[in-house]
Amino acid sequence: MNQKKARFHMTHAIHRFTLAGCCLAALLLMTAPLCAQVPDEFTNLKVLDKDIGKQDLIGIMKGWAGGLGVRCNHCHVGPDNLQGMDFATDEKEHKRATRAMVEMVRTINSQYLGSWEDEALEGKGEDDGVTCFTCHRGQPRPPHKLSEVLTETALSEGTDAAMTQYKSLKQEHYGAGLYDFSEGTFGQVAQAAIEAGKPEVGLEVLRSSLEVYPESADLHAFLGMGLVQSGDADGAAEAFAKALQLDPDNANAKRGKMMLERMGN
Ligand code: HEC
Ligand code: HEC
Repeated sequence: MNQKKARFHMTHAIHRFTLAGCCLAALLLMTAPLCAQVPDEFTNLKVLDKDIGKQDLIGIMKGWAGGLGVRCNHCHVGPDNLQGMDFATDEKEHKRATRAMVEMVRTINSQYLGSWEDEALEGKGEDDGVTCFTCHRGQPRPPHKLSEVLTETALSEGTDAAMTQYKSLKQEHYGAGLYDFSEGTFGQVAQAAIEAGKPEVGLEVLRSSLEVYPESADLHAFLGMGLVQSGDADGAAEAFAKALQLDPDNANAKRGKMMLERMGN
């Protein structure tokens, strides 16, 4: 897929969304001020086609803003109401970073995703490939893995702070596909804490996570393994028993129980 084709794909997608362009879009999406505030001539285009039309450009800008969950002034200098903005200046780092992102997205879509079925992609919209949203999920920076976010908090501020963070992120983002709120995340945090030489934080995290997922056989089994490592054989036996009561086939709990028996408990 060459540049011209890539541009066709983009334009195609934009037309699908804004229908007949600026005026109709303005009516539908209440963006009349946007059309009025954006200049008719563009003076500093380096990655977009220098002859691009105004409604095409606005469509692309809205796509970028939406993909990152930001407004125009995230990348452009000026007030949030679009009055008297300087769109052409490259003062903001986010604007400069975006050019590199655009080149990257084009390369992914044309050289990698397009490479084996270029013809088949012909005529499809840009949403068939990678977009800003694919990685950014409506956030200015692509979200990090939840287990990494929580591990950092657990190790620096303690387990209670990590649990509070878990609950507030869940409240804010549940269902948006941003973070993995499942029990497995707690297993990863505990593992990371143990690897960081803080087994006590790992055990705390597992105990706290059992308040969120009391019926999780995996978490009970992980707690058992952590307790074996910390020398609490009785606590471990109890945790494995609980895991096996919830899920008689739980492999970690079975293995842990056998290990304890071999150790003479
Ligand atoms: C994520 C960053 C980002 C966001 C958000 C963004 N823009 Fe842009 N904008 C850019 C970049 C990068 C360019 C330069 C493109 C190029 O070099 O070809 C640009 C160029 C422009 C230009 C052309 C300026 C010129 O004269 O060269 C206009 C007008 C513009 N944007 C308007 C908007 C509007 C209106 C919004 C909000 C709906 C918006 N932008 C949101 C990054 C952004
Ligand atoms: C393949 C994944 C991916 C895609 C697609 C992608 N980005 Fe990014 N973007 C990243 C990563 C990773 C970072 C670095 C984040 C960090 O340092 O924490 C980043 C950083 C940025 C930054 C700098 C953020 C900051 O605060 O330093 C901007 C602006 C940005 N991206 C805009 C865009 C735009 C606009 C698009 C679509 C044209 C896009 N990105 C597409 C992965 C992606």
